[in-house]
Amino acid sequence: MQFRTLKPFPEGFLWGASSSAYQCEGAYLEDGRTLSVSDTKAVPEGTTDFNDGVDHYHRFKEDIALMAEMGFKEFRFSIGWPRILPNGSGEVNPLGVQHYHDVIDECHKYGIEPVVTLYHFDLPQVLQDKYGGWASRQCIEDFLEYCRVCFKEYGSKVKYFLTINEQNMMVLFEGEAYGGERPCWQANHHMLVAQAKAMILCHEMCPGVWIAPAPNITAIYPASSSPEDNLAAMDFDQLRNRLFLDTAVFGEYPEALWNWWKNRGVEPLDVTEDDMAALKNAKPDFIAFNYYGAGCVKYVSEEEGNRMKEEAKKQGGMIAFMTGLMTHPGMSAAVKNPLQKQTSYGMGIDPVGLRITLRQLWERYHLPLLITENGCGVPDKLEEDGTIHDDYRIDYLRQHIKACQEAITDGVNLMGYSPWSAFDLISTHQGITKRYGLIYVDRDEFDLKEMKRYRKDSFYWYKKVCESNGADLD
Ligand code: BG6
Repeated sequence: MQFRTLKPFPEGFLWGASSSAYQCEGAYLEDGRTLSVSDTKAVPEGTTDFNDGVDHYHRFKEDIALMAEMGFKEFRFSIGWPRILPNGSGEVNPLGVQHYHDVIDECHKYGIEPVVTLYHFDLPQVLQDKYGGWASRQCIEDFLEYCRVCFKEYGSKVKYFLTINEQNMMVLFEGEAYGGERPCWQANHHMLVAQAKAMILCHEMCPGVWIAPAPNITAIYPASSSPEDNLAAMDFDQLRNRLFLDTAVFGEYPEALWNWWKNRGVEPLDVTEDDMAALKNAKPDFIAFNYYGAGCVKYVSEEEGNRMKEEAKKQGGMIAFMTGLMTHPGMSAAVKNPLQKQTSYGMGIDPVGLRITLRQLWERYHLPLLITENGCGVPDKLEEDGTIHDDYRIDYLRQHIKACQEAITDGVNLMGYSPWSAFDLISTHQGITKRYGLIYVDRDEFDLKEMKRYRKDSFYWYKKVCESNGADLD
């Protein structure tokens, strides 16, 4: 593909990496924090819960110093809603508020720009118990109250806020993370309105600060060149991607999807004029998105789709869950792409898909783009001499960074690259053995050890990337 001169990464490109509060902080009931819905959900057998994380709550200074050593320009982390408002709304927890001041100040000490996610899968459990979480309209108000505290406290120190991490994954794949039935279009609508109102509030309270949605976005390939499969890819793209970004950027639901819902009687039941005005009036300043490999779908008729779901149900477990969610009778069904490479955990490795995704986003929305997650979760081995030889991760990141450069050369306005994750943390689905970090944290699923930090080979490699502004990828 390299028959042309690639453009260099722009001046001020934001090199860094990401994390989220409930996956790394630990201290889950310390200093006034209460439980979130992610703390209470069942974890797969043999994997740790999130209670201790990697103790980032107490070791954030050490972690940020290591990021500074790599030459990070930004660090993406999330604020824990249950740390700031232990009751979900109402009384503010001063210790929680102070903690994130300290984290932000520590970043600034090294010239690292904090990129702050307001809500990353950690809805306060108390709101789930009280009124069913996002299924209730009240959640919009409570989210705004929480955002108001964050904007007031941190708005003068933070240039980039992200609203909701991977709303689409919560809605389409993990209903339990927001506590509603899955998929629950009414809850999804509430989240879209909450996001729109949060963007408006941010612009009112913190002029000049940028705010963006942060869904998981990926190009959708048709399984074959048949017209039906192409249509299926278009339709699934609406459901998987555009439902979350057309609404955020244009304030409109994608039409074909809306009509498809209507035909099936599943359009959101309660959509007010005030909701639609909020969607219309809110404007993101940029788009943040997470990318882990492209999707692939085929067309399925009503009959075939229903049959697939029934068969998967009989098999039970993960197959039933995934097939149920990825199969939409009369529209599309996700299929495995035999041409896409995979990690040992079955996640796609598709750097060209990243370039395609970047191109599609830029062409559709013409807003600056920030990659807020991309990475390779695999077990790593800590050698006796304290080294970790993760050449597979270096290779993965190198290919994806090259894809970014290709996209920039195509004309895409990419602001930064923030892979998952800065340091090892607890995977959302598969414990600590599935590691993503540039920094190794020495703990096992159930043995916390000393949680000592080690520099992986990818740490030294990424340091060169940051310091050379992406010129040295060798
Ligand atoms: C994204 C999430 O879905 O993917 C992260 O925003 C998550 O929270 C990451 O950890 C990787 O997924 P997993 O299940 O491998 O941890």
